[in-house]
Amino acid sequence: MPALDYLRRTAGLNGVKEGCREGDCGACAILVGELVNGAMRYRVVASCLLPLGELSGRHVVTIEGLNRESGLTPIQEAFVVEGGSQCGFCTPGIVVALTGFCLSSPDLTEEEALAAMEGNICRCTGYVAVVRAVRRFLDNLRPAVAAMEDRTRALVRCRVLPDYFAEVPSLLESIAGMPEPSCSPGMEFVGGGTDLYVQRAEDILHAPLRFLSRETSLKGVWRDKGQVYVGGATSTEEMRESEIIRESIPGFTRFSCLISSQLIRNRATVAGNIVNASPIADLAIILLALNAELGLEKDGEKRVVPLARFFLKYKEINLRPGEIIEWIRFRERTRDALFNFEKVSRRKYLDIASVNTAMAVRLESGVIVEATIAAGGVYETPRLLAETSALVTGEAVAPDLVREAALRACKEISPISDVRGSKEYKSLLLRQLIFAHFITLFPNMRLEETLV
Ligand SMILES: Cc1cc2nc3c(=O)[nH]c(=O)nc-3n(C[C@H](O)[C@H](O)[C@H](O)COP(=O)(O)OP(=O)(O)OC[C@H]3O[C@@H](n4cnc5c(N)ncnc54)[C@H](O)[C@@H]3O)c2cc1C
Ligand code: FES
Ligand code: FES
Repeated sequence: MPALDYLRRTAGLNGVKEGCREGDCGACAILVGELVNGAMRYRVVASCLLPLGELSGRHVVTIEGLNRESGLTPIQEAFVVEGGSQCGFCTPGIVVALTGFCLSSPDLTEEEALAAMEGNICRCTGYVAVVRAVRRFLDNLRPAVAAMEDRTRALVRCRVLPDYFAEVPSLLESIAGMPEPSCSPGMEFVGGGTDLYVQRAEDILHAPLRFLSRETSLKGVWRDKGQVYVGGATSTEEMRESEIIRESIPGFTRFSCLISSQLIRNRATVAGNIVNASPIADLAIILLALNAELGLEKDGEKRVVPLARFFLKYKEINLRPGEIIEWIRFRERTRDALFNFEKVSRRKYLDIASVNTAMAVRLESGVIVEATIAAGGVYETPRLLAETSALVTGEAVAPDLVREAALRACKEISPISDVRGSKEYKSLLLRQLIFAHFITLFPNMRLEETLV
């Protein structure tokens, strides 16, 4: 069952609120802590999309686990003083998310604190009072936390965390080595569960589940023989934190802010994004433009499939029953390689795309020697724009070329009208976003003055 149901109905921890049950509101946010190389690492996650089995051997923190026996924590105090809580429905989730931020952020900046709470929606306050409360709390906390001090110890000393947090690592060590649930054929794979639990929560209630994000062999980012590998169960947030990703996909930290919220990115895996095969999947579009390949495995049998040949038809993919995406790989970036991602949605943040597109390009002496452009929301699958990519390759960047590329791109797609826009609007968006790629990647050419 989802952890939310266990926490509220069985454990009676009603501070965890049930709002949307789709990962959109953050009312059900909890902290999940695990020992990583001997130190605790906490992540804030949506308990409505988290299978209970994922909590085995972990430290689970709800608002009840942060409350003091008497009096308020400094976060709660700041919310009271600034009027940051009105009906209070969102407040436990917000306090949990902010506490999670304090546990993991080296710099304790207001900007990062607010980014960490981007998945927490409040219908009452209009956020101004919430922002004031966060500012008040951080202004008081920063001088009290020394840079080199163990963060958990510092937060216990400042009363942000109850004393028992100091004992948690040894408690978790004492239960380490508990057997993981065994795997058997026919098990349903769960990556982060952020698609599965939105789409099929009822169906999988009684299904045997295999929790891929607990399998360390499927996690991480590494380099090998000129390729960058991303383990299939690596979360979007883990990709954001990876130095290798930052070097290999310029701008990824910025683009990935447009992908869901930290609450969801903490769980959402790269393989889940690909297997879900949504035509607007953001990571799939980014990886298509990088000419990525997938390493697939079943019962020791392995094969490699180019991502461009993985998507067959709407929601139909080249994955055999029981096959796992072990890794995704793409060529290491050369110094002259450029990359851009554009996404337009009805809301800038916390929304899925109407149209998204990515472009990877390499220039030699002003001539494009390699280009790959992909687009989403304009075809039944994430779409590699092969003809447009070929059209610009071997050409010098110029306004006419960009116009021609945008025209060709619109001929390679067949968008449908839906809630995210009419087919005409989506074609127009793609044209504008192709312009945007070139304007962004070649600022010296001042293309924005000539392209209309
Ligand atoms: C509130 C919210 C906002 C979102 N916003 C965005 C957004 O902005 N952009 C976006 O692209 N997506 C968004 N999503 C969708 C989702 O978060 C992503 O698609 C995510 O990457 C899915 O990964 P997951 O690990 O959670 O997949 P899961 O739900 O765990 O799995 C999805 C499918 O993939 C299969 N699977 C998972 N891992 C593997 C593997 N290694 N091998 C084989 N099969 C596997 C599962 O069996 C399942 O069929 C959002 C979702 C929510 C709830
Ligand atoms: S109930 Fe809304 S995010 Fe979980
Ligand atoms: S205080 Fe009511 S939802 Fe935030």
